[in-house]
Amino acid sequence: MKKKWQPNSWKNYSALQQPEWPNKNELSRNLTEIEKAPPLVFAGEVRKLKEKLACASQGKCFILQGGDCAETFADSSAPSVREKYKILLQMNTILAYEIPKDVLLIGRIAGQFAKPRTSQTETHNGVTLQSYRGDSINDIKFTKEARTPDPKRLVQAYHQSASTLNLLRAFTMGGFADLNKIHIWNKEFITSVLSESHHHLTTRIDEILASIKNNEQEVLSKTITDFYTSHEALILDYEQALTRRDSLTNDWVDCSAHTLWIGDRTRQPNGAHVEFLSGVINPIGIKIGPTFDVDDLPLLINKLNPQNEPGKIALVLRLGAEQIGEKLPPIIQKVQKEGYQISWMSDPMHGNTYTTPSGYKTRSFDTILTELKQFFEIHRTEGTTPAGIHFEFTGENVTECLGGTQMIEPSNLDECYETACDPRLNNVQSLELAFAVADLLKK
Ligand code: PEP
Ligand code: CO
Repeated sequence: MKKKWQPNSWKNYSALQQPEWPNKNELSRNLTEIEKAPPLVFAGEVRKLKEKLACASQGKCFILQGGDCAETFADSSAPSVREKYKILLQMNTILAYEIPKDVLLIGRIAGQFAKPRTSQTETHNGVTLQSYRGDSINDIKFTKEARTPDPKRLVQAYHQSASTLNLLRAFTMGGFADLNKIHIWNKEFITSVLSESHHHLTTRIDEILASIKNNEQEVLSKTITDFYTSHEALILDYEQALTRRDSLTNDWVDCSAHTLWIGDRTRQPNGAHVEFLSGVINPIGIKIGPTFDVDDLPLLINKLNPQNEPGKIALVLRLGAEQIGEKLPPIIQKVQKEGYQISWMSDPMHGNTYTTPSGYKTRSFDTILTELKQFFEIHRTEGTTPAGIHFEFTGENVTECLGGTQMIEPSNLDECYETACDPRLNNVQSLELAFAVADLLKK
């Protein structure tokens, strides 16, 4: 008979992408410290999010899930968090006005510190070192010492998450998300970041501002009251240390974030990540890349959502603009045939990454939109409902992704390329994305 799930059951399965900690005792000491620390999120919030995700799967609201590819300890200041939050609120305003529909905001924030890597090592000028795995594991600096996994970083990631979350909760509760303020930021944004050449964007933002002023759009509730956090549940020791029982129901909750996702590299139905997440009540995202085998779907769903609970599972498709047309319809058809409850999300970023001849990892805004368009069209053809998008962005005016109205060219990439991992949309490209999504939803 199958043994009862426990937070450490995953240890009986093969766990990919885990760091080789040099000192196991030190790892245990640091994990014990996290186990004793307070939870970051609470069961009631997790349940509320699941209900909202169920609404999104029925098209009653639309999910905007975004943030850095990798958060860093260095970039954790209040202004940096505020700028990211601001962009999400601005995108929220655009969508809520244009669709109009409620928007569900989920940040890739307050815990997105660990990265899966395709290559375990990195070589420069004949020197080979362990890959950078995110700030909760090692340092991006290319020295042997910096790249050696250090479990104290897990504790630092916990504290960093707590302080970011505290700030986000204060922003949300303290009036920062008041629509009148978003109105002022949008005005500032038009004058400071957008120039004459962004006419198309400024006109649409002006229309929204005028409408808010005249209170025409009742759907734009005055204040955004909910904000949720997410990250990839990659380092299972860390997730286990923050897994607690709900005192009311006895359910297990991963209290590191409201919702967690399983990456494209760790979604094996018999792997440790799926085993771990099968025991917690949090909503789960599963990243689906082009190597996904449709026959894995029943195994994944039976394990992660045996009760077929709505809002529990989001399939986050990152198939790439070239392959989505071929790969998505069979996945949708299988889900329809089996009657699985799924929130369909598009991550139009991770299937479209490439490296320029000058060595910059980038994505083109046009290709991102091409994948998104197909995502919406395929759902229309199949009669299913797009529930949201999952994307990587930052609140600054970086030059990491190509194109958009700023027409960022490969030769501009070195002007402000700051990401610790994948290229992110900048603030202007993010607002353009919101308008593009609104147009697709209106079709
Ligand atoms: C990510 O979201 O940063 C990521 C690594 O995604 P994926 O697992 O889809 O490659
Ligand atoms: Co990424």
